[in-house]
Amino acid sequence: MKAPVRVAVTGAAGQISYSLLFRIASGDMLGKDQPVILQLLEIEPAMNALKGVIMELDDCAFPLLHGVVASHDPMVAFKDADIALLVGARPRSKGMERKDLLESNGAIFTGQGKALAAVANKNVKVLVVGNPANTNALILSKNAPGLNPKNITSMMRLDHNRAMTQLANKVGAHSTDVKDVVAWGNHSSTQYPDIFNATVKGKKASELVDENWLVNDFIPTVQKRGAAIIEARGLSSAASAANAAIDHIRSWVLGTAEGEVVTMGVPSDGSYGIPEGVMFGYPCTCKNGEYTVVQGFEINEFSRKYIDITYKELCEERDSIKHLLG
Ligand code: NAD
Ligand code: LMR
Repeated sequence: MKAPVRVAVTGAAGQISYSLLFRIASGDMLGKDQPVILQLLEIEPAMNALKGVIMELDDCAFPLLHGVVASHDPMVAFKDADIALLVGARPRSKGMERKDLLESNGAIFTGQGKALAAVANKNVKVLVVGNPANTNALILSKNAPGLNPKNITSMMRLDHNRAMTQLANKVGAHSTDVKDVVAWGNHSSTQYPDIFNATVKGKKASELVDENWLVNDFIPTVQKRGAAIIEARGLSSAASAANAAIDHIRSWVLGTAEGEVVTMGVPSDGSYGIPEGVMFGYPCTCKNGEYTVVQGFEINEFSRKYIDITYKELCEERDSIKHLLG
């Protein structure tokens, strides 16, 4: 029997967590042979609701769940955490852009960065889900001295998964037939879902669709999918967001499949002309618990324009919260 992995989850009484916690505890994230201890963080007013969620976790009698810690103190919830899923933050409502949340959510990630640095496992793998996820991850990274900045990532996997299905549906294929899409840049309406390196059943995707569909349908549909869900549900995506978080960590910890490329929001390192200093959606592969930014994807003139726009937005977001960068 493997030793349990400690997984901290913030916003544990929220709607994403209502799906996420049960999937982690059932082994979807770290494997069906990996016990877990859930360390749940909420704000004080939500502790009672969290109690109810924990009763439900208990009532599942999950074989892999080896303990649950619940606290409103990050120093307790992050203690010795091996993995931290930072979901706790306000969601946007109709008519807002995700960056409108920076003012209310940004500050959460200064305190949580410090607490993680103080008490978590030094190699803790962090995924920021709370919006605006890329810039919140940057804030966290700048406030977490002693943690490896490479281990602080933001969620672009939902955008990646959305792009796969939109492309598959268009050409009458299945998402599993699609390889090498990328959601470059920011998890926002400037992100660039790119199919120029993608294949469907081994055929170049760009030869199966026309530019008009790309510009007027595919790109805006993926860019604005979150808003479309809010419009339809009255609430932001939850189960699909939880699924993407599970996918992100599973790929990172257990590795990507042979030939599989996934999108992760990671610190920019100069790859593809994006200077250091932002969290950027890049194509990645993972092996032995580490991710690598895939080099050599073709960036044509069409793609360059979109990539530059999303990079510019990330710089603007960063400039607007300079005071939180430590
Ligand atoms: P929700 O309002 O249902 O739940 C958020 C929970 O976080 C609440 O229970 C709240 O009490 C808690 N919380 C607030 N501040 C906290 C803090 N400082 N510490 C711990 N917990 C705190 O929202 P949700 O639908 O679960 O969404 C959570 C966040 O995830 C939102 O910001 C949303 O926009 C974002 N999101 C991101 C993606 C992505 O792809 N990156 C996808 C979907 C949603
Ligand atoms: C999403 O992409 O569904 C989330 O980021 C929620 C949102 O605000 O759109």
